[in-house]
Amino acid sequence: MCPSKPALPWWARLYLWATERLYHEFAWAYDAVSWLVSLGRWHRWRSLALDHVWGERVLELGCGTGALLTETARRGWRTVGVEPSPEMRRVAHRRLRRAGSAASLLAADARALPFATGAFDTVVATFPSDYIARPEVLAEAARVLAPPAAGSGPRLVIAGLLVETDNRWLALLPWFAPAGSTVRAQEFLRERARDAGLVLTVQPHRDGPVQVPVLVLEKQHAE
Ligand SMILES: C[S@@+](CC[C@H](N)C(=O)[O-])C[C@H]1O[C@@H](n2cnc3c(N)ncnc32)[C@H](O)[C@@H]1O
Repeated sequence: MCPSKPALPWWARLYLWATERLYHEFAWAYDAVSWLVSLGRWHRWRSLALDHVWGERVLELGCGTGALLTETARRGWRTVGVEPSPEMRRVAHRRLRRAGSAASLLAADARALPFATGAFDTVVATFPSDYIARPEVLAEAARVLAPPAAGSGPRLVIAGLLVETDNRWLALLPWFAPAGSTVRAQEFLRERARDAGLVLTVQPHRDGPVQVPVLVLEKQHAE
């Protein structure tokens, strides 16, 4: 995610191209690749989002191969996942079937959610691509969240968006940002979220040399 849009260097374009392949024709390899690039920590990092879930009606955006979806349903929450990639959904459906999971999975894009206003208590997105910072996605997430309650309440929870490391070798990999380098991206998201009626707080989580903050965007009362 980048506040301004300078031309990307070739290696960044190659990286984005490769990730798109992984969401489509190589979806069958997604779990293995994500395990590898996170040194076995992917599921642990994405599960950090679950500590910040509020209420029982949970929507997961871009649920990929359905691992977190299965986990949320196992915890007794009423869970729905949306995923635009048919290849990812195929893998996720297989996983849900094998687990005998009660979670539902729909073909949908986070820019236009096929749900009623106020239908969910928490919307979750883990390791989302750039789509998550789009104004229309933040507006849709805010729309499908229930009206805010006194104290803590309905929220969008994002994990794995701004992963930083203070290990200089890990920082060479394009999926890790050097420590302290995501402050601008955080501020950019904070402003966009505010426009959508969501207030961002950053919950820090450190795992060895890697920081995986969880971004909690709570729905505010309309002025
Ligand atoms: C890096 S994967 C993350 C998958 C999973 N959440 C995880 O933690 O492993 C990003 C996912 O977002 C999905 N995606 C991309 N654009 C999207 C959009 N506009 N709306 C919803 N999901 C989207 C991709 O198809 C892909 O499955």
